[in-house]
Amino acid sequence: MNRKQFIHSVAGTLATTALVSTLDSSTREEPSHTPWPPADPADEHFWRFVRDQFPLTRDRAYFNTGGLGASPYVVIEAVKAKIDELEEISETGHTEQLWRELKTPIAHLLGCDVEEIAFMRNATEGINVVCNGLPLKKGDEIITSTHEHVANVVPWLALLQREGVVIELFEPSTQSAQENIDRIEKLITRRTRLISIPHITTTTGQLLPIKEISQLARSKNIWLFVDGAQSAGMLPFNLHDLGCDAYAACGHKWLLGPKETGVLYVRKEMFDVVRAKFVGAYSDHGYDLAKGTLAFHPTAQRYEYGTVNVPLRVGLGAAVGFLQRIGIENVWKRDKALSNYLYNALQQIPDIKILSPANDAERTAMITFQHAKIPFLELQQHLNSFKLRTRSVSEGGVDGLRISTHIYNNFEEIDRLIEGVKSAVLQ
Ligand SMILES: Cc1ncc(COP(=O)(O)O)c(C=O)c1O
Repeated sequence: MNRKQFIHSVAGTLATTALVSTLDSSTREEPSHTPWPPADPADEHFWRFVRDQFPLTRDRAYFNTGGLGASPYVVIEAVKAKIDELEEISETGHTEQLWRELKTPIAHLLGCDVEEIAFMRNATEGINVVCNGLPLKKGDEIITSTHEHVANVVPWLALLQREGVVIELFEPSTQSAQENIDRIEKLITRRTRLISIPHITTTTGQLLPIKEISQLARSKNIWLFVDGAQSAGMLPFNLHDLGCDAYAACGHKWLLGPKETGVLYVRKEMFDVVRAKFVGAYSDHGYDLAKGTLAFHPTAQRYEYGTVNVPLRVGLGAAVGFLQRIGIENVWKRDKALSNYLYNALQQIPDIKILSPANDAERTAMITFQHAKIPFLELQQHLNSFKLRTRSVSEGGVDGLRISTHIYNNFEEIDRLIEGVKSAVLQ
C-alpha cells in the first residue's frame, strides 16, 4: 500500500468510525448512565462499552496515555458536579471525612495504608517532596538511571547544585532484570544513600524488578524511591509487597483522572525521615506559636498544605472507582493484549527495531520502536498526518516512538498504526 492508498484506507476507516459513533450517540443513553455489562477482558463488546464511556475523539487514534490519559465521562461529571456544589455555597469542601473516602480506594489500589497517601498536584510534586525532604548532604551518593523522565532528573540535579550530592548512573538493560540489579549493585559504595528509579521506564516501558532492588537497598541500608508515573492505573501491584520507601505517581495518565492530580506514598516508618518542607494548613496536628511548638500530622497528610482544588481530587476518586469497576487485573490484561498484538505486528515489519524488552514479563503497555531508515521524528510526523498520536522518546538517547495502549484503544487502531508505519516505508 502506498501513501495515497493508505490515506484512502484510513479515510475510509475514519469515515466509518465517525458514522458509527454518530449513530451510536444518537441511539444510546448517556454513556455513564448505561448499566454496565459484566467485566470480561476477553469480550470485545465489553471493551466497546468501556470505550463509549469516554468523550475521546474517534477521529484520531490516541496512543499517548504515557503522556496524558483521557478521562471518562464519570470523571468529568464528578468534577463539574463538585464545582457546582461548592460554588453555590462558596466553600473549599476539604473535610477529613472526604479525604479518607477518597484516599481509601487509592490506598487499596496501590496496596498500602490510607495514612500513607498524600494528595499531590502531579508526580513531579511528589518527587520533589521526597528529594527535598530526605536528609541528603554533600558527598551523599544517589543511584539513578539514564532513562529517567525529566521530572525525576531536574529535582536531583538541583539538589546536586545546591547541596553537592553525587549522582551515579546506570543504563537500564532491556536484556535481563538481573542485569539491572547487578548494575545497581556495582554502583553501591559506603556513601550511597538512595536509589531513585522508575517502576516502569518512560523510554521503553520496561518494568523494573522493584521488589528485588528494594531487598538489595534494604540489605545495604539505602533508601529506595520509585517514580510510579507510568505504573499507577496500568497494572496491579502492592507497594507494601514491593517494599520501596516512597512512591510518587500522577492521576492524569493511566489512572485517567483530572489533569493536575497526583499521589505520594511514603512508608509509615519514613514519615520522620522524609521531612515535610512545604507546609501549612493541614500539614500540622497542632502548634503553639508562642511556645514555638509544632506537631506534624501523624499521616502523610503532613506533605499537603493550603487550599487545594477539591473537585479535582473528587474526580481522581471517580477515576479510581471507574478502574476498579473494570478491575485493575482486567485493565492490565487488556492493555497487555493490545501491546502484545502491536509488538508481534511490529516484529513482522522489515527495518523496525523494537527497543522495549523482548522478555514478556518486563514488557508493559508501552512499546518503543525505531525505524532503521527513517528518523523517529519524521516517522512521527508521518503518523501524525494520519491522525495516529504517538510519543517521541529522546530521553536516554533512545530516539524512538512510544506507543501506549490503554483501555480505550482497540485492535483496529493498532492495525491502522501498523499500516501507517508500513506506508512510511513505501513513501
Ligand atoms: C516516568 C515519569 N515520571 C514523571 C513524569 C511527570 O509526571 P507529571 O507531569 O505528572 O509530574 C512522567 C511524565 O511523563 C513520567 O513518564
